[in-house]
Amino acid sequence: MSNGLTVIVLAAGGGTRMKSKTMKVLHPIAGRTMIGHVLTAAYAVEPARVVVVVGHQREEVTAHVREGFPDVVLAVQEEQHGTGHAVRMAVDAAADGGQGIGGTVLVAYGDTPLLQGDTLRDFAAEHEAAQRAVSILSGIVPNPFGYGRVLRNDEGDVEAIVEEKDATPAQREVREINSGILAFDAEFLLSALPRIGNDNAKGEFYLTDAIAIAREDGLTVGAHPVADVDQTEGVNDRVQLARMGAELNRRIVERWMREGVTVMDPATTWIDADVVIGNDATILPGVQLLGATVVGEDAVVGPDSTLKDCEIGTGARVVRTHGELAVIGAAATVGPFSYLRPGTTLGTGGKIGGFVETKNAVIGDGAKVPHLSYVGDAEIGEGTNIGAGTIFANYDGVNKHRTKVGKHARTSSNNTFVAPIEIGDGAATGAGTVVRRDVPPGALAVSSGPQRNIEGWALAKRPGTAQAQAAEQALGSGETTPGDVAES
Ligand code: UD1
Ligand code: CA
Repeated sequence: MSNGLTVIVLAAGGGTRMKSKTMKVLHPIAGRTMIGHVLTAAYAVEPARVVVVVGHQREEVTAHVREGFPDVVLAVQEEQHGTGHAVRMAVDAAADGGQGIGGTVLVAYGDTPLLQGDTLRDFAAEHEAAQRAVSILSGIVPNPFGYGRVLRNDEGDVEAIVEEKDATPAQREVREINSGILAFDAEFLLSALPRIGNDNAKGEFYLTDAIAIAREDGLTVGAHPVADVDQTEGVNDRVQLARMGAELNRRIVERWMREGVTVMDPATTWIDADVVIGNDATILPGVQLLGATVVGEDAVVGPDSTLKDCEIGTGARVVRTHGELAVIGAAATVGPFSYLRPGTTLGTGGKIGGFVETKNAVIGDGAKVPHLSYVGDAEIGEGTNIGAGTIFANYDGVNKHRTKVGKHARTSSNNTFVAPIEIGDGAATGAGTVVRRDVPPGALAVSSGPQRNIEGWALAKRPGTAQAQAAEQALGSGETTPGDVAES
């Protein structure tokens, strides 16, 4: 891109129609804030600098912008006196930073989450090729209410932008609107800003007045209708937020399908902007892939799963699962009804089965936790099988402790591993064992006592019940004496 391009993003307005404690541009869509989408588009143009104008809730907006886009120049607009005033603050801030501006200046808004870098780049290139003082990214819309209208003369040349509140009834009929994205020659912008007044219906300094000023100066101005109007649509309330969110999701899902991902039901599939999906992966209905989730080639996810910041290996299978910050190895299987909490790592070919919750758990290659278990703060070696209904008791009420199970161990059903504990390689446990001491490699740990059978108990203690009758039938003539105890 041209040397010295500056992108100014206006984000000082309050967005009162959101009726939210959260500043408008900080509302998320497809896993990024609205301003995050705009800044991603801005940086895609590889500009010399990006200036963000902040005002309302500027501490929150500033912190967010600094974190994701540390190179941004921040300009403070204490009171919002209009877009012309906001751009003046941006220009001043750039000058304060010792940078100043030159070349082309693009102005965009922080609340247009569908904006793409290509659109900004093409617009800037056209503006520069035409050597204009100002270019307008316009849009032809069925309902232009609320927008600034692009006024053209009989020759079709752009003369001015008139705002809704200042327009005559005839001007309001114009359906070519100012999207809000403008391109300026920096030199012209610097000369025009001090000449913009606020003698209008809103008493604001309209940046859009710069078009008429350029015409008065005998400079060239022009407008390009954008093909994809949604890209420049701003979000003003939560109805629009949902509509734009659905539209952005539709675009993301479609992009992945075109990249070779099978999506069975696009309508119930939600994929955040930063998700990456491998070739021939299959996404079944009711799936949300969120945050920085990566799905490997040939993996199958769903139905009905939510994965946030997860990594799903090649050919893995994840069914009806809720996962966050979990790493699932290649060809591993998860679910149905699994809950993967942060720090879960499942090795190649491993298994986390039905009704299993895991947290800070590193489960080795080919290791399995197939049924009804809680695995917290644990390490399970390769090839080990954990019996059904095992609880890794990691919490003593005060502190969390770790459990280590070695490789190729076979632990039985309904065990409790009381951490801190270590179960050695190739060790085993009996059913119902409560493991409180380390188990050496190859040992069998058994903690439940010998079984006692109190013969005839049901007949003696539950006479007349269905239980007693069933026992009586099974025992025939009733040879055993109530109270006999047999040990086994
Ligand atoms: C503006 C344009 C209008 C265009 C429309 C597109 C002007 C005068 N009007 O109108 O031609 O059709 O956008 O949506 O430019 N902002 C600040 N500081 C301010 C004022 C605004 O940062 O002092 C920011 C707002 O946060 C918002 C953007 O600039 O992101 C647009 O401001 P808004 O008041 O919504 O302008 P509109 O009246 O919609
Ligand atoms: Ca607006």
